[in-house]
Amino acid sequence: MRIPFKTRILRLFGVLPTKTDRRIASLLKLMTLDEKIGQLNQISGNLATGPVSDRETNLFKIASEGKAGSFLNIKSVEHTKALQEAAMLSRMKIPLLFALDVIHGYKTTFPIPLAEAASWDMEAVELSARIAAVEASASGIHWTFAPMVDITRDPRWGRVMEGAGEDPCLGGKVARARVKGFQGKGLGATDALIACAKHFAAYGAAVGGREYDSADMSLRMLWETYLPPFKAALDAGVATFMNGFNDLNGIPATGSRYLQRDILKGRWGFEGFVVSDWASIKEMVNHGYASNSSDAAQKAFTAGNDMDMAGECYLENLSELVKKKKISMRMIDEAVERILRKKFEMGLFDDPFRFCDSQREQEALCNPEHREAARQMAEKCIVLLKNEKDILPLNRSLKIALIGPLVKSKKDMLGAWSIDWPEHSDTVTLYEALEKRVTDSSMLMYAQGCGISDDTSEGFIEAIDVANQADVVVVSIGEKSDMSGEARSRSDIHLPGVQEDLVMALCATGKPVIVLIHAGRPLIFNRISDRAPAILYTWWLGSEAGNAIANVLFGDYNPSGKLPITFPRSEGQIPVYYNHFNTGRPIPEGHTGETEYTTGYIDISNSPKFPFGYGLSYTSFAYENLKLSTTSMKENQKIQVSFDLKNTGSRTGEEIVQLYIRDRVASVVRPVKELKDFKKIKLKPGECKCLEFTIDEEMLSFYNDKLQWVAEPGSFDIMIGTSSADIRLADILEFK
Ligand code: NOJ
Repeated sequence: MRIPFKTRILRLFGVLPTKTDRRIASLLKLMTLDEKIGQLNQISGNLATGPVSDRETNLFKIASEGKAGSFLNIKSVEHTKALQEAAMLSRMKIPLLFALDVIHGYKTTFPIPLAEAASWDMEAVELSARIAAVEASASGIHWTFAPMVDITRDPRWGRVMEGAGEDPCLGGKVARARVKGFQGKGLGATDALIACAKHFAAYGAAVGGREYDSADMSLRMLWETYLPPFKAALDAGVATFMNGFNDLNGIPATGSRYLQRDILKGRWGFEGFVVSDWASIKEMVNHGYASNSSDAAQKAFTAGNDMDMAGECYLENLSELVKKKKISMRMIDEAVERILRKKFEMGLFDDPFRFCDSQREQEALCNPEHREAARQMAEKCIVLLKNEKDILPLNRSLKIALIGPLVKSKKDMLGAWSIDWPEHSDTVTLYEALEKRVTDSSMLMYAQGCGISDDTSEGFIEAIDVANQADVVVVSIGEKSDMSGEARSRSDIHLPGVQEDLVMALCATGKPVIVLIHAGRPLIFNRISDRAPAILYTWWLGSEAGNAIANVLFGDYNPSGKLPITFPRSEGQIPVYYNHFNTGRPIPEGHTGETEYTTGYIDISNSPKFPFGYGLSYTSFAYENLKLSTTSMKENQKIQVSFDLKNTGSRTGEEIVQLYIRDRVASVVRPVKELKDFKKIKLKPGECKCLEFTIDEEMLSFYNDKLQWVAEPGSFDIMIGTSSADIRLADILEFK
């Protein structure tokens, strides 16, 4: 049936109720207060992703009594179906929403999000989320707690692995791509997951990089650096938000009216719902922000937190709070309405079991097409940090000594937040991948050398012996998959155990040593980076890790990843990030050593070990002929910046070209440079392409001291770089 134009316009402006509005309104009329509160409650299944109480929970009883609107940590058609059936026994028969942390893939594990950000390839990032959604939705899941869009400048924080790194521009584009991927063609398709932008807000700024710690920052910093990826997720249509465990400027995010009601639901007009983090409502008592669980429920609810995850604080207190008139029925209805609307949009009221097709589940999980996409994504994430004398790619006729504690590991290739399928049998290890590629088995030798956290070098002798018999040594080291992730902050981010010593011992054999570093965060490995001729940062790449790494080692894929986060030389430099202020006493340009009375340390340079945006290729690129369509720009005008990029090497390769801008003088100090846009371009040897960026007023704008978004007249440096520390072309733009 065609809806008349007038009706559509009136609906658009919210003047006329839609069919869903009417269905929600009639449901609300029929529901008791307890049933409404049930919708605001989320219960965890048996997989725990937070501290659990020893209280016995009968999930089926809760579902059949209508005491939960959602469950997390239940997966598979079998289990979700059984609980949904229980929900259908409840008086109102309101379907459940099943949520899970589908962070980087489901059964097919993709690279960790930080690694995916290193691809700077938004189509690939979107595809990865899409496949995760196809698999998870086939397995009964409706809602993922992803993407995590927290900016972080602190690699000590364990959850750095789960985000897109330090930059709001890159972070915003990744957020958008992941939301689009998860939500697909839109809620209502049976292969779409509800996405959740988390953790609102500033969780990644935890002091000292300590998990769950406070964030304290100026509002300008919040708006300029930490909020943009959330806004990007919202603009991409994200259906839910999760608040955070942290307090921000003295108010727990879960109880922050400023964040949830004023910014999110007010200024930004968010129409979805907000879920707390695991028990973060009642944890406001520990924060010293609520006197007891009732006070915590009241504060979180009035601040705009709609659903209570795993805390049962709403279940225990909201009814009483309504009776005492501390919370109005209108507010309860508003929160329930937000949740019911998503259930309607997911089509669950029409068919609660539409995600319960076991045949589809069987076909979707880890199918060959998904594996292929996972391998391609993994290749794109690998960052070549060093390649002296073009030692890489390897010639297939070389005899390889494959050494290190991660060579045969399956679980550690997946990384934290992988959906825990018991045996990880589908993961391709490095050993398996290389074994398949060498001409005969005598060309591949193996020694473990040491364990990841070992403090003994007993295995070195065997490793050195194996290295001595080979032409080239490939050593695979890094972190265990549980060394980064939630509650995995580390004060010391050097390579664990004696792994660095192992590499030094292997370098001492005189054999060429190629180092592969697998980790969930930037690590510090200065001795290795000074000594080893080739280093690939391989993060945690997922199910296809081994194949992707092998393809890069042998040159079947030319590495193209670039760092989405700065790698420090020492923990003492943290936080170290490229978009810092100049200060009144900057170190003179080009000066690397110690200088008197300048911003820095007496014992270490300010420069990072590897800067944001850095990454090498097996080919080389030249940047030439920068042209600005005009060097003087007016309000509302757009200008074009063009330049030529040429592949000057002998292999086809991809370059990520980066546009940075600096506002030279402004009413508040501005960073030395800020990423504003980027492109990933593939060129054949000798090929040259003219590339173009458009600069608009938005890109020159910032928050002034009144928190107004403004572009001020003045001079702007326009910089085109291959990394934040390697600007190849620059000019000045006057904004009038
Ligand atoms: C706590 C984490 O902070 C959050 O990101 C996650 O989604 C929930 N636990 C559920 O596992």
